[in-house]
Amino acid sequence: MTQAYITLNDGNKIPQFGIGVFQVPEGEATYSTVKNALEIGIRHIDTAHAYQNERSVGKAVKESGIPRKDVWITTKLWPSEYGEGKTSEAIDKMLKRLDTDYIDLLLLHQQFGDYIGAYKDMEKAVKDGRVKSIGLSNFESERLEEVLAIAKIPPSVLQVECHPYYQQNELKKRVEKYDTRIEAWYPIGHGDKALINEPLFTKLGQKYGKTNVQIILRWHIQEGTIVFPRSTNPVHIKENFEIFDFELTHDEMEQIRKLDSGKRFFLMTLEEQEKNLGVWTPED
Ligand SMILES: NC(=O)c1ccc[n+]([C@@H]2O[C@H](COP(=O)([O-])OP(=O)(O)OC[C@H]3O[C@@H](n4cnc5c(N)ncnc54)[C@H](OP(=O)(O)O)[C@@H]3O)[C@@H](O)[C@H]2O)c1
Repeated sequence: MTQAYITLNDGNKIPQFGIGVFQVPEGEATYSTVKNALEIGIRHIDTAHAYQNERSVGKAVKESGIPRKDVWITTKLWPSEYGEGKTSEAIDKMLKRLDTDYIDLLLLHQQFGDYIGAYKDMEKAVKDGRVKSIGLSNFESERLEEVLAIAKIPPSVLQVECHPYYQQNELKKRVEKYDTRIEAWYPIGHGDKALINEPLFTKLGQKYGKTNVQIILRWHIQEGTIVFPRSTNPVHIKENFEIFDFELTHDEMEQIRKLDSGKRFFLMTLEEQEKNLGVWTPED
């Protein structure tokens, strides 16, 4: 299956399609999911320290035999690791867990804590080669502009909830002049049945001989969004990647754009999210 690449604002080329491993347990589950994804040609893995499965991601990449330069690894720092000096140490630990010399894309996972100090350390890590690209995740408040104002290296990506019901058009405008790309989390609504079973996707699926999920993922690709749906089911993983052999028309893209209803699947308020940070303490 042909892969699509996007050139980021720092010149690095990211595979536009990958696999996410949120909620996939460390050990055999993550290892076999990543190994299987790499075997079928997927070259982009999205993990995070908070997912607690970086070791298995690193092991699967290493044991796949695929040259390291051909696999894109994204991971994310937790707010308790933010701060000048502190973040640099956290990056070193990350490299050990992933068993790699560099991270392709490093994100600040959440918009809390000393994110300014952390961003500065991430910029230093780009300069010294430990990290290739940097970006943000979940910065949707005015804290986004705060980081953009001090950034010497503008974020390459902004990873947020994004799917046909919540298309993030306002946010896209806020980062347009930095050429920051949107990465979609919950790209298929965290598996939401109502979203997947939208009659429009069924109709288009019948036309192209594709599943509803493939129609949604193809829409993301044509919107220029970076996607990494999560699945531990080998049939789904293969199916999700088989979206590079057809193209939705301009009119069909427009019809899907009209499904934007402002409906989010992740409903925690900022206050609740901040309180929730303490539920997990990063280990080494
Ligand atoms: N930065 C952040 O704060 C943040 C937050 C959430 C997620 N993320 C990232 O985004 C990734 C994707 O988000 P997500 O995993 O929560 O949601 P998602 O990819 O939208 O949905 C995953 C769900 O869809 C199901 N699924 C996958 N392919 C399918 C198919 N072809 N047909 C039917 N069902 C299918 C999966 O079940 P099966 O396993 O049975 O296929 C799983 O239950 C994460 O893994 C993570 O890397 C980031």
